[in-house]
Amino acid sequence: MQAVRAALDTATVESLLAAAVAAPSIHNTQPWRFRVDPDGRLVEVHAAPGRSLPLADPVHRAQYLSVGAALFNLRLAAVRSGWRPEVRLLPERGRPGPLATVRLTDSLTADERHSDPGLYGAIARRHTSRLPFTGRPVPDPVLAEMVTAAQAAGARLHVPDIAGTRRLLRLTAMAEARNQARPDRAAETRAWLNAPEARTPYGIPVTALGPPDAAGRMPMRDFTGDLPGLRLPALWFERHVQLALLWTGNDRRDDWLRAGQALQYVLLTATARGLRTSLLHQAMEWPDLRAAMALPGHKRCHPHLLLRLGYGPDGGRTPRAPGRQVTGRTTPPGTGDARI
Ligand SMILES: Cc1cc2nc3c(=O)[nH]c(=O)nc-3n(C[C@H](O)[C@H](O)[C@H](O)COP(=O)(O)O)c2cc1C
Repeated sequence: MQAVRAALDTATVESLLAAAVAAPSIHNTQPWRFRVDPDGRLVEVHAAPGRSLPLADPVHRAQYLSVGAALFNLRLAAVRSGWRPEVRLLPERGRPGPLATVRLTDSLTADERHSDPGLYGAIARRHTSRLPFTGRPVPDPVLAEMVTAAQAAGARLHVPDIAGTRRLLRLTAMAEARNQARPDRAAETRAWLNAPEARTPYGIPVTALGPPDAAGRMPMRDFTGDLPGLRLPALWFERHVQLALLWTGNDRRDDWLRAGQALQYVLLTATARGLRTSLLHQAMEWPDLRAAMALPGHKRCHPHLLLRLGYGPDGGRTPRAPGRQVTGRTTPPGTGDARI
């Protein structure tokens, strides 16, 4: 006799999707869509084709990283609701289909449900902070915890020494300079910047931006492009920058999804330990600079993202499209109703 499959109630399904969409995504494009089986026990995670960056992310690697981060949140929320999530990446290999499926197989014991060390609680508290940090050093055990988290999710996190930090900052600064010098790239970025009163749930509100570094050492991304009036006055950033480089040994689509899950595991671990985080992706947007970001001496190091970690002020909030099942049309970039 076949076991009767209990269905998930609407509130549980909504809580899973709400957790998923709280993930970070490049330029807050939220490039995901979800399809949920009628009984709620199978969630398909798809890419939202219109919400991509053809110039900065032509192969959709950053899109996959973002979807991977959402997938990680979905897994945490499933466990929180008492379900065991069974994840398959690219289940329809070679054919267009979901980037991942999450099957909620059976109920967890109470111990299993409460085994996560504050990660679920950190989902809502995590924000990108583009403001200067205090410079207070990040304790080694916390860095070690983040390295372990990345590895558990199938990726690697490298914590550079002073020379390595300088190298990674220099390459990122070169990428940022190229982005600014290319009007098409700058326009693509600015298309995702919104006025504070904007009603679109996609893109970054100007209130979440940070200042440029008065010392010119921290290559924060300039989202304002040809609207320098929106640029905040420069401030001094922390002198001792704590960076971490996320990378994988292969560079296939499933590696990108793993790296995205690892990214979110690392960011939530950092948030649970009271850290602020921001992301520097610019060098990954130029193949020669991405290759140069790889760890010297490593034959197979495919960098994905540079993280900046520290203590300091919280980042401004960014909106989200509601975490309900998205089945229809997606919003292409630049069509929001109040973009700048
Ligand atoms: C793959 C990826 C690349 C990103 N690159 C940058 C970046 O270069 N500069 C930046 O300021 N933020 C970057 N972000 C952060 C996003 O802008 C941010 O996650 C998004 O606006 C949502 O805001 P939140 O993180 O505060 O929730 C990146 C995020 C992801 C997932």
